[in-house]
Amino acid sequence: MSTKEETQASLPTQRLLGKVALVTGGATGIGENIVRLFHKHGAKVCLVDIQDNLGQQVCEKLGGDPNVCYFHCDVTKEDDVSRAVDFAVEKFGTLDIMINNAGISGSPCKDIRNADLAEFDKVFDINVKGVFLGMKHASRVMIPKKKGSIVSLCSVASALGGIGPHPYTSSKYAVLGLTKNVAAELGLHGIRVNCVSPYATPTNLALGHLPEEERTEDAWTGFREFVGRNANLQGVELTAEDVANSVLFLASDEAKYISGDNLMVDGGFTSVTHSLRVFR
Ligand SMILES: NC(=O)c1ccc[n+]([C@@H]2O[C@H](COP(=O)([O-])OP(=O)(O)OC[C@H]3O[C@@H](n4cnc5c(N)ncnc54)[C@H](O)[C@@H]3O)[C@@H](O)[C@H]2O)c1
Repeated sequence: MSTKEETQASLPTQRLLGKVALVTGGATGIGENIVRLFHKHGAKVCLVDIQDNLGQQVCEKLGGDPNVCYFHCDVTKEDDVSRAVDFAVEKFGTLDIMINNAGISGSPCKDIRNADLAEFDKVFDINVKGVFLGMKHASRVMIPKKKGSIVSLCSVASALGGIGPHPYTSSKYAVLGLTKNVAAELGLHGIRVNCVSPYATPTNLALGHLPEEERTEDAWTGFREFVGRNANLQGVELTAEDVANSVLFLASDEAKYISGDNLMVDGGFTSVTHSLRVFR
């Protein structure tokens, strides 16, 4: 048996069997891929979002399996988040995994003098307060059980300036800060807290990051070309499913000793610079 076959043979086919997960922003994009992958790996999944039709459709596309359900929840509202956690616990008996995925990029603004404070607040409400509320209410269930895994969606913008608008970049640095601080508190209770930082992958959110001059008639083709050109790792494209796979790893027992970590899913983008053109 080759080493690859041995590794595959040692991995259980359903890596989240018996676990209960709640995924915010699960109606589209990366969140939807997390829901599908978690379901495939045997988890009972409650997805929450503000796009109710799309959220219900994700459940329908999974064949109406009773182990997947949708609940309306605006992550900026504490009551909504609290109720969503209670709903998941009532429906599936507990909460083992909390995925804080809901996020927005906010509108591009190239001149700080024109920055709109309401826009700043909106991005922080969803990207930071939403993540904090997810951590808070998941902890309520996880602390008494002395176990759990919390994974939040961060970004390459948590490691470098110049990738997104100011509110977005600072919100992702804040998600990293929250991840480390909450990991410091919850380690005592056996709860792991991590985040995942992807490079760009084609979703509605990511399209908003594309500079105007790079937007072509076929927006997705333009996006892929731009992102591919600026990537470090060539010949491979980051998909929402790849991001979901890294979230699956951190959520699962395979990552049982990993906490306080920011897993970069960026093909080396934040570790190298090609600005000096030493290799290109
Ligand atoms: N796509 C990328 O290239 C990329 C890169 C790095 C990080 N991320 C992060 O991944 C996460 C998911 O992004 P995506 O690209 O899948 O975006 P997306 O726009 O496809 O999906 C985001 C989901 O969050 C939901 N949402 C927005 N506001 C909400 C709220 N107040 N309450 C509940 N749900 C809400 C939306 O309805 C949507 O379903 C975000 O946190 C984003 O910052 C994305």
